[in-house]
Amino acid sequence: METVIEASNLVKQFGSFRAVDTINFSVRPGEVFGFLGPNGAGKTTTMKMIQCASPRTSGSLSVFGLDPGTHSHEIKAMIGVVPQETNLDTEFSTIENLIVYSRYFGIPKEVAEERAEKLLDFVQLTEKRDVNIEKLSGGMKRRLILARALVNQPKLLILDEPTIGLDPQARHLIWEKLKLLRSLGNTIVLTTHYLEEAERLCDRLVIMNNGTILVEGSPAELVRDHVGSGIVEAEHSPEVVECLSHMGISYEVTGDIVQVVTDNPRLVAQELLRKCDAKQVLTRAATLEDVFLKLTGRGLKE
Ligand SMILES: Nc1ncnc2c1ncn2[C@@H]1O[C@H](COP(=O)(O)OP(=O)(O)OP(=O)(O)O)[C@@H](O)[C@H]1O
Ligand SMILES: [Mg+2]
Repeated sequence: METVIEASNLVKQFGSFRAVDTINFSVRPGEVFGFLGPNGAGKTTTMKMIQCASPRTSGSLSVFGLDPGTHSHEIKAMIGVVPQETNLDTEFSTIENLIVYSRYFGIPKEVAEERAEKLLDFVQLTEKRDVNIEKLSGGMKRRLILARALVNQPKLLILDEPTIGLDPQARHLIWEKLKLLRSLGNTIVLTTHYLEEAERLCDRLVIMNNGTILVEGSPAELVRDHVGSGIVEAEHSPEVVECLSHMGISYEVTGDIVQVVTDNPRLVAQELLRKCDAKQVLTRAATLEDVFLKLTGRGLKE
């Protein structure tokens, strides 16, 4: 199979509002594919259409070559989902949450029990095996939801902000697990607001805004094509700004910092120090965050 997910002119409309507006993307087998974008961009709406939780308004969508509109049962059997909101069953313990969920897939009880133990170990929750899930911390719940998404041994994982609210240790743990799952041949689609996470995990990604896809590419390609290799930052003072203008170097002001995007950060840093008498000069590699802010703006999204 050439693609695991194929979307063409995909639209989701709520009344007269288009949450997803004619998007095209394809996800290849074995890759980690990311959806980035500000709040309300349409990421979760897109995930829900893929996971057969919400019908599309128009366009075409196929998952493993099947139409979510007519083959949701077959598709659901092959995918694992981590939803954006934590939706564990509060009546049950940690391990029971996994075993009960296995029933939806018709997994025999003994198999489910054995798998549940292994999955608890996988997300390092064995210690909390018999605790009611109301007694788990927020990060532990997220880890349990990841384990739950794996009970049917899915080939495709749909993860909507899998590491939201996790501490750095737990986040690194999830990254390791996702890399392991990928190395075993699984395909992973994820959304995240942590751009470092996207940079580390995603083979390819799209940045969405207002229901549309702005750009697509690997993290490195996007940084190279939309920002450049380096960024030089200095304090925002009238002297520095005037000096940069005088030298014909374009810059951007964000808060109390002046930023220069350049393929020659050393030279620009030297000029800033020597000619502009800047006091705090810092050079750094351009990141996906620079691309994100450049393309989606710095203002808060409503
Ligand atoms: N059931 C619904 N009815 C009406 N509007 C909806 C519904 N679900 C989502 N929307 C709207 O669709 C838009 C996209 O929402 P969506 O949840 O897909 O955004 P998102 O990119 O996942 O954002 P976030 O980063 O905050 O999770 C928003 O404007 C939202 O208010
Ligand atoms: Mg969302």
